[in-house]
Amino acid sequence: MNLLAIATLFSAVVLGLSPPTIVERNPSKVCVVPAAGNSSIDDTPAVLKAFDQCGHGGKILFQNTTYHINSVMNTTGLKDCEIDLRGTLLWSTNVSYWLNHSLPVGYQNQSTAWVFGGKNIRFDGHGYGTFNGNGQTWYDACGSVSNYPGRPHALTVSETSNSEFTGLRFVQSQMWTLSIIHSQNTLFDNIYVNSTSVKSSSRNTDGADTIYSSHITFRNWEVDNGDDSISMKANSTDILIEDSLFHRGLGIAIGSIGQYKDAYETIERVRARNITYSKTLHAVYFKTWTGEQVNYPPNGGGGGLGYASDMVFEDLKATALRGPAIAISQCTTFSGTAGNCTSSKFQLRDLSFKDLTGTTTSQDVASFQCSAVKPCENISITGVDLEVSSNGTLADEYLCGNVEGTRGFNCTGAVCVGGSATGGC
Ligand SMILES: *[C@@H]1O[C@H](CO)[C@@H](O)[C@H](O)[C@H]1NC(C)=O
Ligand SMILES: *[C@@H]1O[C@H](CO)[C@@H](O)[C@H](O)[C@H]1NC(C)=O
Ligand SMILES: *[C@@H]1O[C@H](CO)[C@@H](O)[C@H](O)[C@H]1NC(C)=O
Ligand SMILES: *[C@@H]1O[C@H](CO)[C@@H](O)[C@H](O)[C@H]1NC(C)=O
Ligand SMILES: *[C@@H]1O[C@H](CO)[C@@H](O)[C@H](O)[C@H]1NC(C)=O
Ligand SMILES: *[C@@H]1O[C@H](CO)[C@@H](O)[C@H](O)[C@H]1NC(C)=O
Ligand SMILES: *[C@@H]1O[C@H](CO)[C@@H](O)[C@H](O)[C@H]1NC(C)=O
Ligand SMILES: *[C@@H]1O[C@H](CO)[C@@H](O)[C@H](O)[C@H]1NC(C)=O
Ligand SMILES: *[C@@H]1O[C@H](CO)[C@@H](O)[C@H](O)[C@H]1NC(C)=O
Ligand SMILES: *[C@@H]1O[C@H](CO)[C@@H](O)[C@H](O)[C@H]1NC(C)=O
Ligand SMILES: *[C@@H]1O[C@H](CO)[C@@H](O)[C@H](O)[C@H]1NC(C)=O
Ligand SMILES: *[C@@H]1O[C@H](CO)[C@@H](O)[C@H](O)[C@H]1NC(C)=O
Repeated sequence: MNLLAIATLFSAVVLGLSPPTIVERNPSKVCVVPAAGNSSIDDTPAVLKAFDQCGHGGKILFQNTTYHINSVMNTTGLKDCEIDLRGTLLWSTNVSYWLNHSLPVGYQNQSTAWVFGGKNIRFDGHGYGTFNGNGQTWYDACGSVSNYPGRPHALTVSETSNSEFTGLRFVQSQMWTLSIIHSQNTLFDNIYVNSTSVKSSSRNTDGADTIYSSHITFRNWEVDNGDDSISMKANSTDILIEDSLFHRGLGIAIGSIGQYKDAYETIERVRARNITYSKTLHAVYFKTWTGEQVNYPPNGGGGGLGYASDMVFEDLKATALRGPAIAISQCTTFSGTAGNCTSSKFQLRDLSFKDLTGTTTSQDVASFQCSAVKPCENISITGVDLEVSSNGTLADEYLCGNVEGTRGFNCTGAVCVGGSATGGC
């Protein structure tokens, strides 16, 4: 077990991380998880037993076979252990079971199929170990409802630190793929996510979401999905996304945030670099709730306080973006209500975008619908070379509402009026 490698995992200079403690694991303590090989036999008890016996200082080995996961799993409080996934974990499609039993994530009334966590863990899929959420069943069952109560995330990493997840494949996630909450100093490297639907939309299949977490690195991701590629939510700080490829989803999302009335939340020090986009809606978009609370979370809310600041997005290469490359929308509100797009008390400031190139379908480089109550401040955009494929012109519109302090660009017009869940109008 190469624990020394963990010390080099993080971008220590950029994010100011200290190297994690190096702990010896006992290589002889290995729990090989048996698989029954029959979808009507739940392999979950065998999995939980392996975590119980080897989750402290040992190794849990999933062989090259299919494991049927028919029940929720809670494997938290692990320590100094390795998970070696050489096969596929296949989740059952008993929708009524999952709706009744999925475990609380601790944010937005979200829930999960597997809550996992601990300290000094290495979870290695070697590039082929797979989580298969059988998501088509879920896309068909609740495709049009944003947050269907009880619909599970594929994996929630909770209260985890000094850990590494590498070489994992997530296909057909039930809802969000990976939620990362109350976690620090953890690397997610070489991760493939594909949650696409053959018929209905695969809405809410975010690649990853960070909440109440810091010093999280996403490196070498490839995501093909129907929602946020990777999203930073409440109290996400010192987040790095690099060397990644995003297909068809919405791009990198900051938010939504500001959903809880009077709660003070921030998103700070986000860096993204060397990102390639193929047919995503945006490269980067920001989404806050309006200043008025309408109904309650998960699907309603608003009136939250705080700010998102100190972000640098650079070396962004796009092919066929479907909308404005950079979008700010502060209009999120309860579905079916016309939100006030200028009333948010949540501020966006100190945002920098450098070297944004490739092709798009929109003339708009930027669409900034900012709050009049807390205007956006200090936005820099430089090195844009985006061609509108349909006619070969350069995208050159920067549409602004309530933006104070632009660098590298001038606003060219007024932004549209009205809301949408995905930025723009
Ligand atoms: C799978 O398990 C069920 C329930 O134990 C049993 O009825 C069935 O015969 C098994 N199928 C196979 C292919 O072994
Ligand atoms: C896993 O097993 C399958 C056959 O069941 C084989 O085709 C595949 O190469 C094996 N994968 C690895 C990585 O050993
Ligand atoms: C679904 O799960 C419930 C338990 O929550 C069980 O009673 C039911 O038999 C399961 N249905 C199927 C088709 O397995
Ligand atoms: C789910 O819960 C509802 C009400 O709490 C109950 O009627 C139903 O039987 C449960 N379904 C399963 C599969 O456990
Ligand atoms: C998971 O198990 C731990 C330890 O028993 C418990 O404290 C925690 O609340 C459980 N988490 C969930 C989401 O059920
Ligand atoms: C929260 O989720 C639970 C089930 O997980 C559901 O019963 C409840 O209605 C949800 N609350 C809201 C406000 O949607
Ligand atoms: C995702 O899966 C779909 C369906 O299998 C496939 O068409 C698509 O090419 C995959 N995307 C990537 C990036 O591999
Ligand atoms: C940029 O990311 C891609 C993966 O999307 C990787 O292959 C390439 O080596 C990275 N470039 C640099 C300069 O790190
Ligand atoms: C979020 O961060 C703010 C500002 O640091 C802090 O006041 C607040 O307590 C945090 N909220 C939670 C739920 O951790
Ligand atoms: C929207 O909010 C702004 C800022 O609070 C306020 O000035 C404006 O009157 C509101 N618009 C409507 C239609 O309520
Ligand atoms: C090129 O196409 C864009 C997007 O459809 C459109 O907004 C723009 O007006 C077009 N420019 C010219 C010169 O036709
Ligand atoms: C913005 O407009 C000012 C005043 O017309 C001009 O001096 C400046 O060069 C413009 N900046 C850019 C980046 O076009």
